[in-house]
Amino acid sequence: MKKNTVLTLAEKKARGEHISQLTCYDYSTARLMDETGIDTILVGDSLGMTMQGYADTLSVTMEEMIVYGRSVSRACKTAFVVVDMPFMSYQVSVEQAVTNAGRLMKEAGANAVKLEGGAAVCDRIRAITACGIPVCAHVGMTPQSCNAMGGFKVQGKGEDGARQVLEDALAVQEAGAFMVVLECVPPKLAALITRKLDIITIGIGAGSGCDGQVLVWQDMLGMGEREPKFVKRFAEVGAMMRSAFRAYDRQVKDGSFPTQEQSYSKSDCSEPVLTHLDQTIGRPVRKPVRVMQGGAL
Ligand code: KIV
Repeated sequence: MKKNTVLTLAEKKARGEHISQLTCYDYSTARLMDETGIDTILVGDSLGMTMQGYADTLSVTMEEMIVYGRSVSRACKTAFVVVDMPFMSYQVSVEQAVTNAGRLMKEAGANAVKLEGGAAVCDRIRAITACGIPVCAHVGMTPQSCNAMGGFKVQGKGEDGARQVLEDALAVQEAGAFMVVLECVPPKLAALITRKLDIITIGIGAGSGCDGQVLVWQDMLGMGEREPKFVKRFAEVGAMMRSAFRAYDRQVKDGSFPTQEQSYSKSDCSEPVLTHLDQTIGRPVRKPVRVMQGGAL
């Protein structure tokens, strides 16, 4: 399979094929996703929560996005890699936005960058795309604005709310975005936006009417700390991991791991070599100490 590009993804939309996207932040997981044919991977700043344990995405830095982004992009032979622009890496000025988008392409190996906001960030989208960098926009619930929004809340409610999200989506398309994430918006509104736009819509908590879907990978594998309504668990990996960690802990503590099978026994030292080493280097090994009640004898 060939690498997905902005063109192959647009062709999928034109053919009415749904586009799969998952978040990912590390090489090993990205390799597995890439092998399975996931169309696009998002190195989301949600890593602030899933990988770093913060309550929101605001603390994530450019340097961190570069490290995580690079790990993912190294693994992706076919998946198209979108890397998030973290909070305050594009808000200050158009110049700052272009510089940081360029860093994500050069240093993280991104195929596109993502930034949050609608009409308010269109000058950034225009300037970044003018440099030949594909931009994925993100409207509706924009987690970097969680303080301004009063939390992680569904957007696009009522006529005014719906108009706002629709206008933002049209504005980012007009500014040159090739894809837009619609997060936590009512499903009929997301479907209407998808019909009105030529660019790809990727939904998360936005119903089934979008061109594609994205989920946070820990959530869809049952490893999430909190589980939003829109998450579907495709496996109980969290439970499997817990049980494996418990088994390991038990076996290390009771001495049943490792066995001969997990040891390099064929290359082991001969008895004369061991005796020579024991007598010539360091403290000689004493006979096992018998421990009795009241202390060692
Ligand atoms: O950071 C992220 O993972 C995202 C998705 C939830 C769309 O922006």
